[in-house]
This record gives sequence, C-alpha cells and structure tokens, in this order.
Amino acid sequence: MDETVLLVGGGGREHALARALADSDAALYGCAGNRNPGIARLADGFETLDTTNPTAVCAYAKEVDATLAVVGPEAPLASGVADALDDAGVYAFGPHRKEARIETDKAFQRRFMDTHDIPGLPAFETFEDADAACEYIDEYDGDLAVKPAGLTGGKGVKVIGDQVTAEEAKAYIRESDYDRLVLEERLVGEEFTVQAFVANGDLRVTPAVQDHKRAYEGDEGPNTGGMGSYSDAELALPFMTNEDYMEAVDILQATVDALDGYKGLLYGQFMLTADGVRVIEFNARFGDPEAMNTLPVLQTDLLDVLVAARKAEPLPQLTFARQATVCKYAVPEGYPTEPRSGARIEIDEESAGDALLYYASVDEREDGIYTTTSRAFAVVGLAGSITAAEKVAEEALAVAGEDGLHVRHDIGKPELVQQRIDHIEKLRSPR
Ligand code: AMP
Ligand code: GLY
Repeated sequence: MDETVLLVGGGGREHALARALADSDAALYGCAGNRNPGIARLADGFETLDTTNPTAVCAYAKEVDATLAVVGPEAPLASGVADALDDAGVYAFGPHRKEARIETDKAFQRRFMDTHDIPGLPAFETFEDADAACEYIDEYDGDLAVKPAGLTGGKGVKVIGDQVTAEEAKAYIRESDYDRLVLEERLVGEEFTVQAFVANGDLRVTPAVQDHKRAYEGDEGPNTGGMGSYSDAELALPFMTNEDYMEAVDILQATVDALDGYKGLLYGQFMLTADGVRVIEFNARFGDPEAMNTLPVLQTDLLDVLVAARKAEPLPQLTFARQATVCKYAVPEGYPTEPRSGARIEIDEESAGDALLYYASVDEREDGIYTTTSRAFAVVGLAGSITAAEKVAEEALAVAGEDGLHVRHDIGKPELVQQRIDHIEKLRSPR
C-alpha cells in the first residue's frame, strides 16, 4: 500500500467518497468538524478539526503522511485548503482558491462564461448596490432569479414568480444586506446535474443526476442543500435525450478548456429549457447528495483517477454499473430555516437491507449519534430501474424511524418522475 489519502469533510458526500476509497489499495484518514461515524469506521484515523483552517488540515495531512488529499466541501476550497496542501507537498484533488471562484463567486462565474463564450449563459447583471438591484427588478420585463454572489449553502437564491413576488424579492435584497448580487433571467425547465473529474485538461463525466432542492414534497418550501436525488441506469435522465446530456458535457468541456490548470471535481448544474441546456451554476466539488448516486455505480477505482491526476497522466476512462439509484435524505425537523439540532438518533444499520446508508452532518459522541443543524443521514437504493431503486431506499428509511426527522418521500417515485417528463414534453411541444 503506497498511497495514503486524507479525506476532508464529514457529510454524506464524504462518506460516499470514503466508501469508494475504502475499496482501494490505500490507507485512508478523515478530518471534519463533526465526527461522522461512517467515515470514522472506514478510516485508519479520524480527527475533528476546523476544515476551513488550512494550517490545521495540513498539520494532520503531515502527521498521517498523506500522499493525496480529497477535499469534499466548498468551504475548505474557498479558504485555500487545496493551495496549502499542494504547497505542503500533498497533492490535493480539489481546485485552488482562485479556481474555486467558479463556485464561490457567482458574479465571477457569470463573467467568466461571458468572456469565454461558454454556451448556456442566461442573461444576467451584477450589482453592488441594493437600490440599483431593486430598480432593475422594477424595470425588467419578466421574472428574475436573485442570487447572492457568495456561498450560501444553496439557500440564498430567490426566484421571482416561483418562490417570491417581485416585492418580496426587493424586501429580501434590502433586509439581507448582501454586498454583491447577481440578477439573472429566470430559467424554466427541469434541473439536472452532471459531474466530471478534471485534471491536466482531461474531463471524465459521470451519469446525470436530478437533485431536489426544495424542502417539502411536491417541490414546495424553502431551498435546501438538497433533499435527495436519482439517476437512471444510463447516462441521461428519463426526461432528457442523449443529445441534451451531450450538450451539458460540451458546456463542461468548454469550461475546462477555458479554465487554466483546474483540478478536482467540476459540477455543472443545468436547466433543460425549451431552448436547450442552460447553466444554473458550477460547483468546484462533488454534489451532496449527487455523490451518493454517482460513486456507488462507479466501477473504475477512484484511487486510480486520483493517482493519474497527480502524476499528470491521462485520467482513466470511467465505467459505471448500469443501475439506477435513488437517494433520500433524512434531515432534522425544521431544516433548513429552524433546524432542531442536538437530538440523539438511533440508527439500526441492519435494517438498511439492500440499501446503502450514509451518515451526514451528525456528530458521534460517547453516548450516541446526535443531529446538527444540517442533513442527518441518507439512504440509497440501487436497482435496474428508478422505480425499483426508490422502493429499496424507502424501505431502508426504517433504520431510524422518523422521530424528529423529515424526509421527502416523493423523490424517485413514478408520479414525480412522470411529472418531469410531462413538463419537458409540454415545454418542447410547438407553442
Ligand atoms: P444555485 O445556488 O445557483 O444552485 O441556485 C439554487 C437554486 O435556485 C437552483 O437549484 C434553482 O432551483 C434556482 N435557480 C438558480 N438560478 C436560477 C435561474 N436563473 N432560474 C430559475 N431558477 C434558478
Ligand atoms: N446538491 C447541490 C450541491 O451539492 O450543491
């Protein structure tokens, strides 16, 4: 065993990364602000530390003699953890702070697409002044999405005509005091994610996934980090064609070509509209929950991808099991606005059955596992069809009962998937 991998982050996404790496011929260490029991059990060592502190992460990487690091969440990338690890001689699979701006600064991201003529850019304007932004809303003919330029954990965006009225959007801008905003054309369609491994100019894409951002069933309620997600037994999703999928891949390729020296995961969040594929945002990391759909079907050894990236060798071609996946998150009641944290939850892993269980933002203490203010755990069903995978996931939710927890049971159910198909058919039918 020549490699020692340090995994940074303690959510469901990182538990999925840990499981993928645990199958590899490498020693594995983890660090996060919370003690994730799933990662801690798979790893040779686990340290709780502030992962946005580059010095603390590097010190632990050195202590365990890490040869590679994988940075899961965006906050450490934004604070320069990948820069610091690379400087310390530990190859970080994750972009440097400057390259991570593709996610961490939405104004930069839109201007970058504009400068490099990357397809899929909606009409947008950037603002540093609340009055000017509100005036733009008054004058704009149509609905707008209001987006704080910085990181908000997926919870800062307000879409006029969907979640809020124009008046509510203006009140939000005045009250929330963001120093920079992006206002852009509201896109109507179906959202999907395509994630890709990137290093040395190579791009290796993974199957499309659809996340569910809204907190409640039927896509109601506030935006969250993502309540659950599904993927099909092929690259595209049921509501899209292979050409739609390839349009997204072409956008990712154009982005990588324009980014100099990007390494790590590049996550494209797309909207399939009547006029084609548009970019909602890019992330500089795996999606959470999307990583839990993708990594369990990845047949290529994740370690081989990381080592090739470090050695500046061509990234291996990826193969995937032809299985559909459905992921459902259990979150603390009240999440995301008033999450009730600090509850002890009992998880009976045996009753997960054929499903995979991923621990997320929970904290393992001496007397049990406690919820935090974020998503608690996820179950993932794998099967030949989305319908079958959904049933596997649903049965596995019995691991914890639902006391104090909230789940979107509709994710992956045939009715909801059919609604997505009907939505796109309607958008595409001649008007
Ligand atoms: P983001 O943080 O950019 O991913 O935005 C969060 C969510 O807001 C997205 O997943 C979409 O549901 C929604 N959203 C963002 N931008 C737009 C847009 N231009 N049009 C419609 N919805 C949007
Ligand atoms: N699932 C959305 C994200 O990871 O940002």
